[in-house]
Amino acid sequence: MANGQIRHFLDLTALDKSTLRLLIDSALERKKGKRDQARGALDTDAPLGGHILALVFEKSSTRTRASFDVGMRQLGGEVLALNSNDMQLGRGETVEDTAQVLARFVDVIMLRTTAHQKLLDFANASSVPVINGLTDFSHPCQLMADIMTFEEHRGPIKDRVMTWVGDGNNVAHSFIHAAVQFDFELRLACPDGYHPDPHVMAWAKAQNGRVHLTTDAKAAAENSACIVTDTWVSMGDKDAEARHKALGPYQVNKELMALADKDAIFMHCLPAHRGEEVTAEVMDGPQSVVFDEAENRLHAQKAILVWCLSA
Ligand code: CP
Ligand code: NVA
Repeated sequence: MANGQIRHFLDLTALDKSTLRLLIDSALERKKGKRDQARGALDTDAPLGGHILALVFEKSSTRTRASFDVGMRQLGGEVLALNSNDMQLGRGETVEDTAQVLARFVDVIMLRTTAHQKLLDFANASSVPVINGLTDFSHPCQLMADIMTFEEHRGPIKDRVMTWVGDGNNVAHSFIHAAVQFDFELRLACPDGYHPDPHVMAWAKAQNGRVHLTTDAKAAAENSACIVTDTWVSMGDKDAEARHKALGPYQVNKELMALADKDAIFMHCLPAHRGEEVTAEVMDGPQSVVFDEAENRLHAQKAILVWCLSA
């Protein structure tokens, strides 16, 4: 049965600002603690010994899968990785039944799925914490790694200007949530037809967030501390041709980077498509921090797992 005390990690909007800050600080601490250790070594406190994490994927994943799996093991726990195609979930068993069954076996569950409502229904039926490992609507775990990465490279994100260029997709929605929760200015440059969900924009406005939407990528990039983009065609998107046409002018290239701060960084959640949303020159250039960002998924995931299981 659903229980109000369960620490789900479903979206950045569901946690208060101080908890999110603690999670970032704890991720940074754990990263420091790992610095001189062998890769496979347990964290010295191994706080999740005796706990099992289930990873349920209805979509492909490299970073989310590897970071949760390795992270849980470093914390002393164990992992059960499941693909929906190999499960009865893929043959029509409901998300609610799947959640109730898995919760009888494991201590925490990460779900990567399609419709956000499926995640909410799954969490509602689960008696153990559920973590959003990406839905069509949002990707909060990615944003924890992104905030951490920005702060490692450029210091506190509070009051800084971040610029999202391209599709107003699931990662963009979590960026909007993050702008409010971590108190930075976010400019989104998205073509008509590919704007973020108006409900998310309205939420940011109601929270007095500094979130601005434009179709002008150049104006949005000016004096920004970070340019961030994502694929033009997300998992499940069917209209690839129309997307390429509309999003073509929103490529992050050296001309766009030149409009940002001199020391601006480039971020991308990956996987990236060089020559499409970003040129190889920017992706592999000195301003790019994309592989630190990918690594930080590990450290951020660990902070989230410990928090979920510390109720
Ligand atoms: N950024 C991210 O979530 O990557 P994966 O799809 O590989 O998990
Ligand atoms: N927007 C992308 C993110 C992948 C991590 C997708 O949903 O496919």
